Amino acid sequence: MCGIFGFIGKGNIQDIVRKGLQTLEYRGYDSCGYALLSDSGLKVEKKIGKGKIEELTSSLPINGSHRLRIISHTRWATHGRVTQENAHPQLDCAREIALVHNGIIENYKAIKESLEQEGHRFISETDTEVITHLIEKYIKRYEFEEAVKKALTELRGSFAVVVMWVNAGKVIAACKHSPLAIGIAGDNFFVASDAMAFLKYTKKVIFLEDEEMAVIDRGVDILPFGKNRKREKVFQEISMEPGKIEKGDFPHFMLKEIFEQPTVVKSTARHILNSLFFANTPPRIIKEVERIILVGCGTSWHAGLLGEYMIEELSGVPVEVEYASEFRYRNPVLSERDLVIAISQSGETADTLAALREAKKKCNVFAICNVPGSSMDRISDYVLYTKAGPEIGVASTKAFTAQLTVLYLFALYLAREKERISQQVIDIHIKELQNIPAKMEMILGRSKEIENISQYFLGKNNALYLGRGFQFPIALEGALKLKEVSYIHAEGYPAAEMKHGPIALVDQEMPVVFIAVQDSSYQKIMGNVEEVKARGGFIIALVNDEDREVKKIADMVIPVPETSQYIMPLLTVIPLQLLAYYTALKRGCDVDKPRNLAKSVTVE
Ligand code: AGP
Repeated sequence: MCGIFGFIGKGNIQDIVRKGLQTLEYRGYDSCGYALLSDSGLKVEKKIGKGKIEELTSSLPINGSHRLRIISHTRWATHGRVTQENAHPQLDCAREIALVHNGIIENYKAIKESLEQEGHRFISETDTEVITHLIEKYIKRYEFEEAVKKALTELRGSFAVVVMWVNAGKVIAACKHSPLAIGIAGDNFFVASDAMAFLKYTKKVIFLEDEEMAVIDRGVDILPFGKNRKREKVFQEISMEPGKIEKGDFPHFMLKEIFEQPTVVKSTARHILNSLFFANTPPRIIKEVERIILVGCGTSWHAGLLGEYMIEELSGVPVEVEYASEFRYRNPVLSERDLVIAISQSGETADTLAALREAKKKCNVFAICNVPGSSMDRISDYVLYTKAGPEIGVASTKAFTAQLTVLYLFALYLAREKERISQQVIDIHIKELQNIPAKMEMILGRSKEIENISQYFLGKNNALYLGRGFQFPIALEGALKLKEVSYIHAEGYPAAEMKHGPIALVDQEMPVVFIAVQDSSYQKIMGNVEEVKARGGFIIALVNDEDREVKKIADMVIPVPETSQYIMPLLTVIPLQLLAYYTALKRGCDVDKPRNLAKSVTVE
C-alpha cells in the first residue's frame, strides 16, 4: 500500500521527510520519490527499489531558513511496473504540477484516452498520471482549488492525493475512500496517509473525510467536493502515542511482535473489561442483537471464524463470518436487529471498509480495530480496540491474538446480556484468560525447539495444516503465516475433510501439521493422525503437555499448556507463528516485508 508524506513550513526538511517516510515503510513499497517547491522552482527526485529512503532524502536541504513545500511518496505498485517513470510524484506536460496518490482510479483508461486526444503526453503506465493532466487541463480556466475539484470529481475509485503547482504557494490534499491526516505545529503543517508519520511533531490532527479537500498555505481551509457538503472541521488532539517503532533487541519486527503477545493480551483484556463490563455506557444494541455478521480479510477473517465459535457457544446468538470482499458486493440482507462487526488491524483495508460502509446503510456496525483515528474507527457506531500497539511486521501476529481476546470477552459480555451465563461463570472464564500470558511465555520459552523443527521445512514446497473445531481456524492461520513469509505453499484444512481429497497429497515430502490438543475433538483428530501415518506422512503435532497418545505416533511434537478450548487458540497459534518465522529466515526471505505483500491493503 502506498504512503504519502507532505510538509509545509520551515525546518530540517531532510530529517522530517526521511523520518516521515521511514514511519510509512511498514506499508511496503518498491519505489519512492519527492517534489520540493521552493523559490528556485520544482525539484523532483525518485529512487527505485526498497530501502532507498535514506538515499532519496539525502538530496534534501537541512537548514530551515526558508518556508518550503514538499510532497513525498512510497509506492507499492498496482498499475505499472516498478520504474522511474511510474514512481511518484507524477507530473503534467509542463512539469509544473506534481502529485502523489494512494488508491486506484478505476476509470483512468477512458480519461487517459480523452486527454491524449486533447494533446496531453503521458510518460507513465500509472492510473495516477491522469489526475495531474486533468488538473493541467482545468488550471487553464480555473483557480488552482477549483481546477483540482473539477479533476477529482471526474474520478471513480479510491484516492488520497496531495498536489502542488509552481504558480501557487499552497498545497492541496484531498481524499475519497483512502485516508489522509493533516497535522499542525505552529506555522508548520504535515499531511500523511498515517498520522503516526508526524506524531512526534504534533498531536493536533484533522482526519479528512471522504470528498473533502484541505488547502494548506498559512492555515488549513477544508472544502467539500463531489457530493460532500461543507462541514466545519477543527484540529483534534489525538491520543495516539508516537509508536515505539523500533525492533529493540529483536532482529525483526515479526519476532518482536510474536514475543509481545503476552503483554498485548493483558492490555487488551484490561481495556475491554473496562470499556464493556465496567463502563456504564456500553451500547444498548448488544442486548437486543439477534444476529452477528463478522467481516474481515486474511488473518482478521480467521479471527472472525474463531469469534463465531466463541459467540455461538457462549451466548447462543447466531453468527455468520464473511470475507469482506464477498460481502460488500452481495447486497447483503440485513435488518436493524443485526450487528455487523468489522475486524481489522489497520482499520484501512479497502474491502473491509467498503463492507462496513455497505452494512452501515442497513444496521449497526462495530469495529474491532488496532488503530485509533483510522477510517474504520471513525465510521463505526462503536469500536472495540485491540491494544496491540503498532504492528509493523506485514504478517499479523500480535493483532490476531488481541482480536481473539476482544472476541472472547465480547462473547462473554453478550452471553451475560442474554442471561445465558452468570457473573460467577464469567469470572471463571476471565480468570482463565488472565492465566494465558504466563502460558504464552512458557511456549515462547521453547522457541529454540521450534526453530529446530523449522529445519525440516527447508527443502519442502508444500505443507498441510489440519485442525478441528476451535483449532480449524488456527490451522488456516498457521498455513497463511507459513505461506506469506516463507513462500512455501501451505494449506489449512478441517482435519476430517482431509479424507475427501487432500489425503492424496500425503507422502514423505509433505509435512502435515496437526493441532491435536486435548479438547472435545481430540479423539476424532487422533483418527486423522493415524490415517496420515498409515500413508507414510511426516507428522508434526501440537499437543498438550500431558498428551500420551499422539506423542507415540507423531514424528515431531510441540507441547503447549492446557487451557479452556475457547482460548486454547491463543496458545496454539504461537508455535505456528514461530515455525513460519524461523522457516522463512532459513530460506532467506524478508520476514518483515514479504514479497508482493503490503501491511494494509487499501486498494481492492
Ligand atoms: C495477515 O498476516 C496478512 N498480512 C493479511 O492477511 C491481513 O490480515 C489482511 O490484509 C487484513 O488486514 P487488516 O487486519 O489490517 O484489515
